[in-house]
Formats: sequence, structure tokens, C-alpha cells
Amino acid sequence: MARTAVSPVPRDGANGSGQFAGGQSLDDACAHWRAAFRRVREETEARAAQLSAEDQIVQSMADASPAKWHRAHVTWFFEQFLLVANDKFYTVFDQRFPFLFNSYYVAAGPRHARPQRGLITRPNGEDVTAYRAHVDEAVERLIESVPAAEAARVFEILEIGLHHEQQHQELLVTDILHAFAQNPTEPAYDARWQPPRPAQGPRGLVEVPAGIMPIGHEGRGFCFDNETPRHDALIPHMRIARHLVSNAEWLEFIEAGGYSTPSLWLSDGWATAQAEGWQAPGYWRRQDGAWHSMTLAGLKAVDPAAPVLHVSYYEADAFARFAGQHLPSEFEWEAAARANVIADAFGIAWQWTRSAYLPYPGYRAAEGALGEYNGKFMVNQMVLRGSSLATPEGHARASYRNFFYPSARWQFSGLRLAEFV
Ligand SMILES: [Fe+2]
Repeated sequence: MARTAVSPVPRDGANGSGQFAGGQSLDDACAHWRAAFRRVREETEARAAQLSAEDQIVQSMADASPAKWHRAHVTWFFEQFLLVANDKFYTVFDQRFPFLFNSYYVAAGPRHARPQRGLITRPNGEDVTAYRAHVDEAVERLIESVPAAEAARVFEILEIGLHHEQQHQELLVTDILHAFAQNPTEPAYDARWQPPRPAQGPRGLVEVPAGIMPIGHEGRGFCFDNETPRHDALIPHMRIARHLVSNAEWLEFIEAGGYSTPSLWLSDGWATAQAEGWQAPGYWRRQDGAWHSMTLAGLKAVDPAAPVLHVSYYEADAFARFAGQHLPSEFEWEAAARANVIADAFGIAWQWTRSAYLPYPGYRAAEGALGEYNGKFMVNQMVLRGSSLATPEGHARASYRNFFYPSARWQFSGLRLAEFV
């Protein structure tokens, strides 16, 4: 899968001497952001180019969105928060689009119902392509013409828009995989796609540095507001698995009756597993006596050595109990990642932690519509750390906090285990 990076980022802006971070001039900063903008916008289109017009319309469940909607929504984000707010000459492409392509920003106005995004056959894909071109041109014009005094603020919003679009690049892939998994012909997103190879080396547990550790974002690079404020957390004496839990280990769980043993499960998890008829991870199915799974290359035999994917928090928690171990907290995970003692922290599977998605001490969401980005979701969800095989390059870091409801399993979600000593 093609990947694109946003960083490095000169995010300090002008320092009063006309210099941007790293000693950049305004011209250098403009060139940087123009290039970063083009790379990210092209990556979205490269991911969508694997799909037909019909593929791009389908919405296979309320949690997933059509590829066409993703392409338009990320464009609306730049239009709404960058262009309308900062370019007095900008003309909105189509007055009906904000209603269609606003996701959840209440302060930005009314919006179409999320579960009905798949009903929007018009505007069609070509209209969305024209929308993207209109906004691309306007954003590049704004980058070229931004006065020095406003450049830092404009680039800051632009940078959020780029990282937002990268999040949707991953969702575009996870959402179409869910759609293809409903299709009896088992389509491939990319027939040449190969799963990432997990790290080799001895399996087993490694020590995590114990003590009071700083947690959260540090340095000048980009982060989302939910990674701040940086604060101290107590890391107990513990060990964490060097590797992700494998399909072979998950098969042991299945064969030992893990899915039919209520004592292994949280009450909500057991109820969900029963209601949904879970007998194996998402997208797994038995065919000719062997387990297969839908992948980006279509239906493939489950590789025992590969990390398990598409498990919910409820399943991850039940598996940890079955194994006599625990999921790490998000702080323990971050301390282990920073100490560089774990393999495959990034690039294969988001890893469930036992941490509820909560604000860090002292966190306050920003004022206005962009303040709705993260803060209002800080209840009833669980944190995942790392990144997945679908995460764009330049979008992963040790402090990154992903979050989903505990029943979700259409993301590339797996786990690693931990134990206390
Ligand atoms: Fe979004």
C-alpha cells in the first residue's frame, strides 16, 4: 500500500523575526506545506483509485462510511475550518455540501444522518473529484498568499486538516474491507497486497521500566490535543509481551472453548458475543475445514504465525483472562514503546489497552468547532495504541491515542499481553 508522510513539521510558526521553526523563511514554510498538502491529498486519491464508482458509494454499516463520503468529508474539513475562516475571497463550492459532508461538528451546523451516508448517490464521484480540485486550488492559493502575521495560525489548521485526512485514509480502507467482507464473491481491495511481516526473534515477556514516568506528547512535532497535557504516571513492576498475540495463540483460545466459556468474559462482552454469534475474530470463516479470513487481498487462509486482527476489546480482555495475563494500560504500553523493548509496536495492528478513553489531568478541549475533534468522545470507549497496516506513514507515534467502542472489530485491532511481578 502506498504511504505518505506529513512530517517533519515546522509547527512553531513565525517567531517575530520572520523566521519559522528550524530557521525557515516564510517561503520555505509555504513550500513545505504545499508539498505536504499535495502528498496527503494524493494518497487519499491513490487509496480510492483501487475502487470502482459502485464500491465508493456503499455503506455496509452505520459505523462505516462510503469511500466517496470520506473523500468529500476531508475536503469539507479544509473548506470549513481553513478556507471559510481564513480566506475572505473563497467561494463555497456547493452550498448543499456542508450539510452532506459535516460529520459530527455541531458548532459547524446541521448535518446528514450518519447511517444514511450510503444513500447519497448524488453528488456522484465526479462531482466529489471536482470539489476536491476546487478546494485544492484554493488551499494552495491561501498557502502562497498568506501574510506572515497569519501564517502560523493558518499552517496550524492546515496541519490538523492533513492529520485528519490521514485518519480518514485508514478508515477508507477499513470501511471498504468491511463492505467487501459482506460480499459472497470476496473481492480484493488490492490483489497484490501482502500482509506486513511481524518481527522475528524469541517470543516471551520483557521488563518495562518501572517508576514514575512522563506520559503524553513531548517535543515540537504534531499531536492531537488528547495526547496532552504531558503528565506523570506510575508504571508498576511488570513485564509485557515482546510480540503481538498470534493467530496460532488465538486458535488455542477457540479450540479450548474460549467463545463458549462465560467465566472468561466481561458481562457486556458475553452479551455482545452471544447477540452477534461470535465464534472467532471478525472476518474469520471456516472453509473446507480450515479457517480463512477476509484481507485486503480477498479471502486468505489464516496464517498461524501472523498477529491476530479484527478482535474487539471484549475478545482481547477474554483472551488475556484465558492466558492468565492482562492487557497493558495505555501508560504501560507507552512506557514500553518509549523504552524500545517491544516489537511490532507500529504498522501491523492497533493494540487494545485496558485503559478507558479519558482526558489526561488538566485536559481542556479547545473553544469552537475544532474543540469537538476529540474531547466530546471521552466516555464509554477504550484506548488502542500503536498503529496498523493501514495507518499512513508519518501518522504514528508513541503518544498517539486511538479509541473505539469495546465491541468494535472492523479496525485492524489486535493485542499484546502483560503480567505484573
Ligand atoms: Fe472526520
